[in-house]
Amino acid sequence: MRAATSLRHSRIVGLGEHRPAGTLTNDDISARGLDTSDEWIRTRTGIVSRHVAASDETVVSMGIDAAAKALAAAGLTGADVDLVILATCTMRNPIPGGAARIATGMGAAGVGAFDVNAACGGFCYALSIASDAIRAGSATRAVVVGSEKLTDWLDWTDRGTCILFGDGAAAAVVEVSDEPGIGPVAWGSDGDAYASVGVPEGDWAIRMDGPAVFRWATTQLAPVAHRACELAGVELADIRAFVPHQANNRIVDALARALKLPDHVVVARDIATTGNTSAASVPLAFASLVNTGEVSSGDLALLLAFGAGLTYAGQVVRIP
Ligand code: COA
Repeated sequence: MRAATSLRHSRIVGLGEHRPAGTLTNDDISARGLDTSDEWIRTRTGIVSRHVAASDETVVSMGIDAAAKALAAAGLTGADVDLVILATCTMRNPIPGGAARIATGMGAAGVGAFDVNAACGGFCYALSIASDAIRAGSATRAVVVGSEKLTDWLDWTDRGTCILFGDGAAAAVVEVSDEPGIGPVAWGSDGDAYASVGVPEGDWAIRMDGPAVFRWATTQLAPVAHRACELAGVELADIRAFVPHQANNRIVDALARALKLPDHVVVARDIATTGNTSAASVPLAFASLVNTGEVSSGDLALLLAFGAGLTYAGQVVRIP
């Protein structure tokens, strides 16, 4: 065998978002008869409304749209891609995964394609796999998609859970680069706490011990952010944007406090109109910051995703 070529670098060159047209406000939820209120949900979570996919909008169709927009943003087409990774945990059927259909739908039929299920941590896991594949020479250009239809998995009578989630998809195009554009991933898991959030065996909807997940997220994840910076060889002061998983604004506040983020760091707050979209949450929040011009191309962003498993992953990336 020929020795592997020396490691190359990778970078993100385009981002795309798919936000379903359908929306559901907190008032809409309480109007359905659930014992909750706009005031309670806003105060406890920061969520005001979320997007809800139509019956013909699926994890795959939303993923195709987000991928096409990411390619367009990068000035590319599906023919330029040789790897597609889909991060999701809400496919209706476990087999087959959705990545191959997304590849075909975006004009990249035949390329390497597979799904990653690390729940809400999924996008940062998938991004690191794509980056490593490119760096090692297994791929030259990848599309990483986070797509979720969480409303298929919600019990609308369970007020501790259903108010949190929404649907959507986002994608990033990753390619070979002369300069480092995606740092090494800081990742990990806690399998002992697997029951704290997920769809229990024999059940059909997401169940959650909200306070337990809240405690974990607010006490255990700041060191992961520090580790991601350390692996990338940067200080928190070098970061322009912090893009944590959008699970609850109070979790985001606690993380920002624990990290003592400098004032110049823009913190993603996509949750207000999006809710928690699991594997789509970090790329949606990131794409929103980029597409609204709140951050500039070339700056550094710290991504941090976490969720069921429990799983977590984060990395420093250069903003496309
Ligand atoms: N509306 C009104 N009251 C509600 C409610 C709702 N939607 N959901 C729960 N409550 C009630 C509870 O029944 C409880 O009532 P009680 O005191 O009479 O027993 C009270 O509010 C407090 O419940 P608790 O669960 O302790 O609230 P909380 O402040 O922890 O907020 C979450 C609940 C779910 C918002 C919060 O725990 C959370 O965000 N956890 C993290 C969840 C998460 O991120 N999950 C995804 C991981 S990727």
